[in-house]
Amino acid sequence: MATTVITNISSLVTNDPSFGEGPLGLIQDAAVVVDGDRVAWVGTSSKAPATDNRVDAGGRAVLPGFVDSHSHLVFAGDRTAEFNARMSGRSYSAGGIRVTVAATRAASDEELAANLRRYLHEALRQGTTTLETKSGYGLTVEQEARALRIAAAQTEEVTYLGAHIVSPDYADDPAGYVDLVTGPMLDACAPHARWIDVFCEKGAFDGDQARTILTAGAARGLVPRVHANQLTYGPGVQLAVELGAASADHCTHLTDADVDALANGDTVATLLPGAEFSTRAQWPNARRLLDAGATVALSTDCNPGSSFTSSMPFCVALAVRDMGMTPDEAVWAATAGGAAALRRTDIGRLSPGARADLALLDAPSHVHLAYRPGVPLVTAVWRRGVREL
Ligand code: NIG
Ligand code: FE
Repeated sequence: MATTVITNISSLVTNDPSFGEGPLGLIQDAAVVVDGDRVAWVGTSSKAPATDNRVDAGGRAVLPGFVDSHSHLVFAGDRTAEFNARMSGRSYSAGGIRVTVAATRAASDEELAANLRRYLHEALRQGTTTLETKSGYGLTVEQEARALRIAAAQTEEVTYLGAHIVSPDYADDPAGYVDLVTGPMLDACAPHARWIDVFCEKGAFDGDQARTILTAGAARGLVPRVHANQLTYGPGVQLAVELGAASADHCTHLTDADVDALANGDTVATLLPGAEFSTRAQWPNARRLLDAGATVALSTDCNPGSSFTSSMPFCVALAVRDMGMTPDEAVWAATAGGAAALRRTDIGRLSPGARADLALLDAPSHVHLAYRPGVPLVTAVWRRGVREL
């Protein structure tokens, strides 16, 4: 396989402190050697080994491709009217999910696949090279399995979220729906997914139901992740930590005990500022989590209801402006943090052996992602060593 050296990088985020300065492992005036789909070497430009191909980064910054560890992109339709109503003062509730469920059920496989492809490409244009996505807008055995098959054809990180809300078909029998989710639906879905998720929230699933669902999934080899403490205080975060979930997502309403649990457990706190932006809710307090010692990730939560953005740079900017993160912390959370939330060590860093997933910014440093909000700074993307943008 051909090797390529990318030289004249003003500032390289490796996320590997043994290769550079600080937690981001920053190298100034850097070069990266890519061999096939892997990073083979990183260091200062002057020491870069000779290779077949040379790419001049033009004195601009390179960082690992963003790892977006939370999205809901197998869906049809949109919810513009709901957004408009919210921006005129209505509040967000989980009930809107039913609108997308109806549209998704009515869509063909081809429509759903094309929609997903479009949003994956939209994310790629903004530097995302790994994207987790979930089912959850089908809520029948066939529809959930179909969503996961469609997702698995396009991304390696697929999550079974049959427990998004109680299916409207089971409005009078939530216990029956939990039996379905942990029985026939799990049988049909487990082969297509790596993760199991549940929306643990008022109006969705309570702590006992969430425990039953996640435990059943874990028994089938799916690793738990939890939508926790988004709209209200609740049991989600502590349940996630107790069950060894990879991630507790949202973490907007946290007690001191929730923060302690995250700081002392193996569960990443994944913050989704697009959701607070689009629902005009209070911001999650990243500073409090970081100061306590929790591992924090940032993700888009891209979905048509609560957060219709696929932009990790936008999330980085919000996290810095409104959640108490430094630019370095936010960039780490959007790359290495996302990788940790997906229990991956091959992505979210750029040091030898890592997957060659890189984003080149039209800016001298990664700080510009927050310093220049809303500006499309990502100008080139390599995924598995292949230039895709
Ligand atoms: O993460 N919280 C639950 N699920 C999504 C919202 C989905 C929707 O409103 O369609 C979320 O915010
Ligand atoms: Fe979500």
